[in-house]
Amino acid sequence: MTILFLILASIVYAWVSLAPWVPTSNKDLNRLHKIAKLKKGETFLEMGCGNGRVCTYIARKNPSAKVIGIELALPFYLFTKIRVMIFGPKNLKIIFGNALKYDISNIDVIYVFGLMETVNKEIKKKIEKELPKNSRFISYIFTIKEWSGQKETHKETDKTSGIHVYMK
Ligand SMILES: C[S@@+](CC[C@H](N)C(=O)[O-])C[C@H]1O[C@@H](n2cnc3c(N)ncnc32)[C@H](O)[C@@H]1O
Repeated sequence: MTILFLILASIVYAWVSLAPWVPTSNKDLNRLHKIAKLKKGETFLEMGCGNGRVCTYIARKNPSAKVIGIELALPFYLFTKIRVMIFGPKNLKIIFGNALKYDISNIDVIYVFGLMETVNKEIKKKIEKELPKNSRFISYIFTIKEWSGQKETHKETDKTSGIHVYMK
C-alpha cells in the first residue's frame, strides 16, 4: 500500500512540476541531435527523461559524450533505469530526482520538454542563474519569453515543432 502511494505520489508530483508524460516525437530526434551539436567530452542532460527515448538516442549518436537523464516519476525512472542497465548505452546514466533541483553547473547542453508555464517560471529562473556560459539550453515546442541572451529557433516548416536554443 505504501509503495503504491509512493508511486502515485511521484507521478502526480511530476505532472504538476515540469510536465505530464508526453514524449518528444520520434521524427524530431535526429533534428534535436543535429541542433544540440554535442562535442566530444561534453555532457548532455535531459530534464524529465520519461521513457528515456531522447537521452538514449542522443547517447547512441554521441558515444564520446556523457549523457544524463533525470526523472521524478518512479515507474518511468525504474523502467528506463533497468532498460539502460540491460541494453545500454554505456555513456547514459539515469538518475531519480527533481530536475529543478539538479546541479547544472557542469552541463553543456540541457534538453527539456516541459509545460510552457514551468519553462517560463522555474526553469527560466534556474538557467538564468545557473547555466554556465557557452552552455546551451534547448526547449521543445515552448519558447522562453523575454530572454536577454542569445537564442535560435529551428522550425523548418509549419508542420515541424519548434526547437528553441538559448545561451547566455
Ligand atoms: C513532457 S514529458 C517529456 C518526456 C521526455 N523528455 C521526452 O521528451 O520524450 C515530461 C517528463 O518529465 C517528468 N518530470 C516532471 N517533473 C519532473 C521533475 N521535477 N524532475 C524530473 N522529471 C520530471 C515527467 O514524469 C515526464 O516523464
